[in-house]
Amino acid sequence: MNAKFDSGVTTRPVAPPVTRPVSHPVSHPVSRPVTRATFDEVLVPTYAPAAMVPVRASGLDLWDQDGKHYLDFTAGIAVTSLGHAHPVLVEALTRQINTLWHLGNGYTNEPVLRLATALTEATFAERAFFCNSGAEANEAALKLARKYAHTKFGAHKSRIISCLSSFHGRTLFTVSVGGQPKYTEGFEPLPQEINHIPYNDIDAAMAAITDDVAAVIVEPIQGEGGVIPGHAAYLQALRRRCDETGALLVFDEVQSGMGRTGTLYAYMQLGVIPDILTSAKALGNGYPIGAMLTTTAIAEHFGVGSHGTTYGGNPLAATVALNVVETINTPAFLARVNEASVKLMANLSKLGDDYPQLFGKVRGMGLLIGLPMADAFKGRAKDFTKAAEGLGLMLLIAGPDVVRLAPALIVSDAQIEEADRIMRAAADQLIAGEAAHVAQTPAAV
Ligand SMILES: Cc1ncc(COP(=O)(O)O)c(C=O)c1O
Repeated sequence: MNAKFDSGVTTRPVAPPVTRPVSHPVSHPVSRPVTRATFDEVLVPTYAPAAMVPVRASGLDLWDQDGKHYLDFTAGIAVTSLGHAHPVLVEALTRQINTLWHLGNGYTNEPVLRLATALTEATFAERAFFCNSGAEANEAALKLARKYAHTKFGAHKSRIISCLSSFHGRTLFTVSVGGQPKYTEGFEPLPQEINHIPYNDIDAAMAAITDDVAAVIVEPIQGEGGVIPGHAAYLQALRRRCDETGALLVFDEVQSGMGRTGTLYAYMQLGVIPDILTSAKALGNGYPIGAMLTTTAIAEHFGVGSHGTTYGGNPLAATVALNVVETINTPAFLARVNEASVKLMANLSKLGDDYPQLFGKVRGMGLLIGLPMADAFKGRAKDFTKAAEGLGLMLLIAGPDVVRLAPALIVSDAQIEEADRIMRAAADQLIAGEAAHVAQTPAAV
């Protein structure tokens, strides 16, 4: 029995609930100056953005708050593949904005029907599911694979095999499936029955993919993990083993898709057809959209009510994506991506030869390219991209040791040459900085 109520005596006064003064002064946020410092005051500190704040961009040209110009070789992390403010997309989105924004999934809409038709006609897939990001596309793929395996084979078939160093998104399921423990630390308990194997290791894959495996998920080229291309023989071996064991093969093409590697999707040049493919990033060129593509036989296991999202395939996102697909998926466009890739790779290879103390051997596919730092500069990829940014070139990293280049696919030869010029200047700066640092360090006795 509760003594407090039994005796009728309250021993301690109960404090009134704390109320904060509810005052919402009328503010005019658009007229209040905002700077990089504002980020640290009002945003959850999950990111550490650059010191400059971009305000305007067109193609690969970008300007910051001070009017300084940058050449953008990041494409918003392989997203704005048609460049910033591409006129076809601006026109299509503007038209759709004046027509129909959103409906919810109680209704379908013409843009999403056209987009699903375009994607299924262009790929192995017969069905599409739309969402808002890469993580959500993978979440849908993993859930569908489990549902399929449970229904078809039983609950014992639930294991998911993924690769070490892989990246599949930031939901709890996708960080658990991703092969980078730093992204799950502190978020336990995690979803179960997930195992990680070394990338490009056929023997490890053969041993790990057993009859209780529901799905194998793999990036055809690991992006965040250091720009590491998957070997065709490895990916083909995964296909064969999945067929033997009844597991579904999921290709995460969130970063590699939409022409980034020189074909609409990377699987098209690897001699492997996955069961499920996920796409996002460049699919919307910056307008958020993700897609999961699959066959009719697999899709039917996701019946009415089994999965969904409010915004998935809304008319605005679908309109942009349809125009992206139609623009990228032409022989001429993709041929130019491959031509630009050859030029950029050749320049980077020469850069590596000229600065062997700084860089290792360039690698990648199409316009998703990694330039590893040499041993003497291990862990200092960020120092290099910072130096380049100071000189007006925006670059990415892929982990602490790899400089990543993912320019818009419309990059011109002149822009490739300009990037080369700036990277050489940044390399000189880094080496000069190192020499000065060594000169200042007292010699060991
Ligand atoms: C291969 C891959 N999968 C999934 C994701 C997650 O996509 P999003 O950030 O849109 O959720 C990324 C993002 O970098 C990615 O590179």
